[in-house]
Amino acid sequence: MKSLVNYYGLQDFTNTPKDIIKKITKLNIVTNGKYCIRLERKISKLVGSKYSVVCNNGTSALMMGILSLKLKNIVAIIPNINFVASASILSLIKAKFIFCDVNFKTGMVDTENFKEVLLKCDKQKIKPNLFLPMHYAGNIIDLKKISKICKKRSIKIIEDGCHSFGSLNYKQNKKSYLGNCKFSEMTTFSFHPVKNITTFEGGAITLNNKSLYQRILNLRSHSLVKTNITDPYHLKSPSLNFRMSEISALVGIDQIKKINYFKKKRNSIVKYYLSSFKYIPEKFECLNFYDANIFWHLFVIKLNSFNNRKKLKFMKYLKKNQIGCQIHYKPLYKHKVYKKNMLFSINKNSDKFYKSIVTLPLHTLLKKKDLIYISNKVKNFFK
Ligand SMILES: Cc1ncc(COP(=O)(O)O)c(C=O)c1O
Repeated sequence: MKSLVNYYGLQDFTNTPKDIIKKITKLNIVTNGKYCIRLERKISKLVGSKYSVVCNNGTSALMMGILSLKLKNIVAIIPNINFVASASILSLIKAKFIFCDVNFKTGMVDTENFKEVLLKCDKQKIKPNLFLPMHYAGNIIDLKKISKICKKRSIKIIEDGCHSFGSLNYKQNKKSYLGNCKFSEMTTFSFHPVKNITTFEGGAITLNNKSLYQRILNLRSHSLVKTNITDPYHLKSPSLNFRMSEISALVGIDQIKKINYFKKKRNSIVKYYLSSFKYIPEKFECLNFYDANIFWHLFVIKLNSFNNRKKLKFMKYLKKNQIGCQIHYKPLYKHKVYKKNMLFSINKNSDKFYKSIVTLPLHTLLKKKDLIYISNKVKNFFK
């Protein structure tokens, strides 16, 4: 087996009970069955939402969420620092979008970034009707003010919580989990193997609105409704197959049981990195901070000199030493394929952010000796 420091993120199946295997062999219904429903209940109970719908990945969760709103002439605001899923979905359904700048400190959209976009929209007489904020690296955006602005302008919010499942909003009371949708229509999650918990592939939507919930349940299975023998199916609207398998749901139920262990373990790694790197702030700063409420998905360092050549040298050095590293993310406006659907982009901070960031390994299988190895190698590079 390859060294565990070779991965920037990795799934953890330690102590997975043998009865999962037994249950799998006894399954009659292998997709969208009782274990999916059980996982949905567990997710809702954890995050404090009325409903939850599990599906086959985080991209499907976003797609179903967007389709369920039935918006006409979509003009969406999306953060520039982001995975490609939301912009690609919007391109496929021929919607328009605007790329919003992020706060350099957090990598996430803040109220000022959002207002900057709206000002430009007003000048150009553009009326956005959808906002897809992305909670970055495990952290949570405070959407209180933004949601008030959105309400006044009839802009719907779908939170992309794919990085931050299990994180608590530390600015509100301690019971406010991401996914309670206090300031949005719904929140989407991914359970891809590098995320905070995994179902192999998988995702979920959490929400509080019953009619949207019913619509998403329909969308998950082609929007086909069984009627009677003479006219066996009624197609409500074109959709696709977004279902989760029962095997994935069983894995998810087991992973949710371990969520506090995973969270503590990831936080202890963050704590180690932070204390190990605290004497070299002149070379780079850490995006992460210690907070037991946050379930960190990524550990990101921001190099102080915004020099692509230097960053490349650093990443090559990490790779040579078998240390997994990544960049999260290249600003979306830089992908030429989005030009056709993009109305405008604000990217000053996003460019600076992109030039400076490198993601280091953060997963629960890392041992103390791995952390010592990684931090010594990083410190040696900057000596
Ligand atoms: C922010 C964000 N949104 C959406 C997705 C899509 O999730 P999935 O890979 O499960 O389709 C990802 C996955 O990496 C992501 O990081």
